[in-house]
Amino acid sequence: MNILIIGSGGREFAIGEKLKSENQVSKLYFAPGNGATSRLGENLALSDFEELAKFAFNNQIDLTIVGPEAPLCDGIVDVFKKHNLAIFGPSKNAAKLELSKSFMKDFLTRKNIKTAKFLSSSDFNEISNFIDTLDGKIVVKADGLCGGKGVLILDDKNSAKEAAFEMLSGKSFAQAGKSVVVEEFLSGFELSFFAICDGEKFVSLPVAQDHKRLLDGDKGPNTGGMGAYAPTPLASKELIEKIENDIVKKTLDGMKEDGNPFCGVLFVGVMVVENEPYVLEFNVRFGDPECEVIMPLIDGNLSEILYNAATQKLTNIKLKDEFAVGVVVASSDYPYKNSKKTVIEVDEIPLNSHICYAGVSRIKGKIYADGGRVLVCVGTGKSLKEARDGAYLLCEKVKFDGMQFRTDIAHQALK
Ligand code: AMP
Ligand code: GLY
Repeated sequence: MNILIIGSGGREFAIGEKLKSENQVSKLYFAPGNGATSRLGENLALSDFEELAKFAFNNQIDLTIVGPEAPLCDGIVDVFKKHNLAIFGPSKNAAKLELSKSFMKDFLTRKNIKTAKFLSSSDFNEISNFIDTLDGKIVVKADGLCGGKGVLILDDKNSAKEAAFEMLSGKSFAQAGKSVVVEEFLSGFELSFFAICDGEKFVSLPVAQDHKRLLDGDKGPNTGGMGAYAPTPLASKELIEKIENDIVKKTLDGMKEDGNPFCGVLFVGVMVVENEPYVLEFNVRFGDPECEVIMPLIDGNLSEILYNAATQKLTNIKLKDEFAVGVVVASSDYPYKNSKKTVIEVDEIPLNSHICYAGVSRIKGKIYADGGRVLVCVGTGKSLKEARDGAYLLCEKVKFDGMQFRTDIAHQALK
């Protein structure tokens, strides 16, 4: 099989690395890829969907896999399908589950799926009246895509109203904030739940936990994610069944009923409150860094699973009885601004660990840190502790100026 992967992050590197280990995969391409994916396959400087489809057709690409949300929301899947090319990911209409929080909230309400009480509006008076009905902390979200940064948690009604006003004025999040979603604050623990879907059927992946805040102890600003681990012991068998039956199945049935069958990765951001799962958000792709810890736990052929999902004949998935922990190593000024390019040195890589490269470029054969989240140190093992120790041992072998990482990944499970 020849496979094209769209994207340039650690997530796409992890997918590529898994595919590279499979006998049936012959050629791998990345568009655009990063400074390290060129070790796994060929990087292509293409982004126009028609040009990518033409490349796929001319180069006998059997399957295209889309990593990030932006091309999905812009309709890359619809363009490939128009040309009868196999592509794994949701259509533009189905990707609205991630693109618009108000679409997602409306969908959840219509299909009777549990989520935080909310109001979605662009009218300040209406929002202000709704805020008056809430108690405790209040969550204010920009409706559109903001790279995970459009969510504010406010301590009281007045600051919530101010935040909503700023968003509506376009000051804080430009067009993405012209409509806002206000929610009650849910207190519990979060899970990242992933299902590979073919429009009707799904298979679940090991349940992960992300660490969104920059600093140890879940302090500091929100980021794209500073580390993840899977499977989490916080997700009991009973809880997984509830998520599968009450959220994933209902979502797939509902999307099909509405004429937008969902094919791709459904990523449910779950908040568990008193053992009940609530949907915080949907994403229509693998999480990053969750993908980096899930890939090493898949025992079967990923190429076959994703091809079957893309062609509506999904079967089962084989998983390893192991754990994986991924620690994101970021540059000095992440998440505030870009840092200076700096060379990465890596000593010998210990057993049962590996690096997924993300924000890197290659100059004269050397890999440079060239982005916010630079790489992910992944450890695997028979226990979570073994996997965590492996990941941190690897962190000690990596060196570049200004590198920073959290030292407490998986803390909720290893208390
Ligand atoms: P979202 O992008 O909607 O997942 O929100 C980003 C983060 O904000 C989530 O991962 C949660 O940590 C937090 N969050 C969002 N909505 C709520 C809510 N209703 N209650 C508590 N925390 C929330
Ligand atoms: N790690 C969370 C995300 O990919 O959105």
